[in-house]
Amino acid sequence: MKKNGIIFVIAFLVAFAGGYFIFSSGGDAPEKDTSTATSEKQDKKDDASDEETAKEDSSDEATVPAEAEALQANNCLSCHAVESLGAEGGASGPDLSDAYKNVKGKHGKELDEFLQEPTSQVMSGVIEGNPLSDEEREQIVEALKKASENNE
Ligand code: HEC
Repeated sequence: MKKNGIIFVIAFLVAFAGGYFIFSSGGDAPEKDTSTATSEKQDKKDDASDEETAKEDSSDEATVPAEAEALQANNCLSCHAVESLGAEGGASGPDLSDAYKNVKGKHGKELDEFLQEPTSQVMSGVIEGNPLSDEEREQIVEALKKASENNE
């Protein structure tokens, strides 16, 4: 009986220690290490893709033709394209290739006046929020005059 008892205790200790050993080496500690390593790698990847998008943004700006720069500088191209100047832009406003000529017919004012006090709803909001200086307006009128000449 005594022998059996000792064997039992030894077997118990071996099983317990062995189980503990397997758990501690295959389990927690090494797993933590790998997870921090991967998240660091991901951080680096994120940084790299941020740089890529920044590069894309600046190359977009570079594709705006010189003649349309006044429009780009005043954010007009976020809503308007000017096809006859080769300027791509947003689609929420009409293409401005012919605006120099057709604004009077459409909105009852010459372009220059329209840009000071627009008679249409969206443009009233745009100009109110960001009034154009005389110089900016002249540059824009000049650019859109060229656009309409290109369009003939
Ligand atoms: C938030 C978008 C938005 C921005 C920014 C914007 N426009 Fe417009 N624009 C419009 C919309 C929409 C119209 C159509 C008429 C309306 O609803 O006001 C329009 C109409 C016009 C028209 C009349 C053209 C036509 O055929 O009816 C001109 C000219 C014009 N915009 C010039 C400009 C200029 C110059 C700028 C930059 C200073 C500019 N817009 C910025 C949205 C915009």
